[in-house]
Amino acid sequence: MIKKGIILAGGKGTRMSPLTKAVNKQLLPIYDKPLIFYPLSILMLANIRDILIIVNKGQLSQYKKILPDGKNLGIKITYKEQIYPRGLPEAFIIGEKFINKDNVALILGDNFFYGQSLTDQLQKNTKLKKGARIVLHKVNKPELYGVAKVNYKNKVTLIKEKPRKYISDLAITGLYFFDNSVVKFAKELKPSKRGELEIVDLINKYKKRNKLSADLIGRGGAWLDTGSIEDFYKTSAFVSAIENRQGFKIACLEEIAFKNKWINKNQLKNAVNFYGNCDYSNYLKKIYR
Ligand code: TTP
Repeated sequence: MIKKGIILAGGKGTRMSPLTKAVNKQLLPIYDKPLIFYPLSILMLANIRDILIIVNKGQLSQYKKILPDGKNLGIKITYKEQIYPRGLPEAFIIGEKFINKDNVALILGDNFFYGQSLTDQLQKNTKLKKGARIVLHKVNKPELYGVAKVNYKNKVTLIKEKPRKYISDLAITGLYFFDNSVVKFAKELKPSKRGELEIVDLINKYKKRNKLSADLIGRGGAWLDTGSIEDFYKTSAFVSAIENRQGFKIACLEEIAFKNKWINKNQLKNAVNFYGNCDYSNYLKKIYR
């Protein structure tokens, strides 16, 4: 059972400059919440309560204002700083102590997932004991993503970063599940031409050993990667449409914690005091009313 998760929430945020000059991308709004709430909600829905958030050097105090130590959500949040964005696999080097002897999930801080049977799917993936699992989603322009080809048993047979020639239209999303070898494998990686440790190289180590499987998010599910300003507006519009139509919030952390019985009514009331008089608080009030 995977009980630990890492959110990689640093990065340069180049594509979103000047918005990201003073504020980290993951603290910017997707409709009515900071972006970081969405990947955090995914780990919580997966029943992962021990969470390491990796942030850029110097940005810790900003994050702690909105997500202190997790007690208010019935989870444990610890932080580590990344000195410089040297690539996604660095998460496992920075997180070595946190991971210790356990298996671990990784979610990128700018990834948005939504869908009907998502919770069940997530909880199935946390049962991973050996090897690694990536989560795939069909896209229109596979040449813009890291993509994977899978066989009928959902074993990954080929992975390629931004393929010029078509091999598959299944993009590799920013959600991964790894056994404990990930720390050792990450340490063995050498920087690529662009000077970063590459996640494709890391998962290739599992593939070579025939230990890489995939989980597919079907057409009922949505995966949006919020790297550009345009993506931010599109994802915000998506969240707004769903929330205003159904009256449910996506990624309301306190609601997830309350439904999982990790926090009680009093803690919900504390959250209302913390956020103050706003739409998010009004929603929380409806939950315990
Ligand atoms: P990217 O989208 O690759 O990069 P970025 O967020 O820095 O944006 P840009 O390309 O516009 O410069 O990163 C994916 C996610 O991973 C994002 O949430 C930031 C995070 N990240 C880190 O925390 N550390 C890293 O070393 C890298 C490469 C990314």
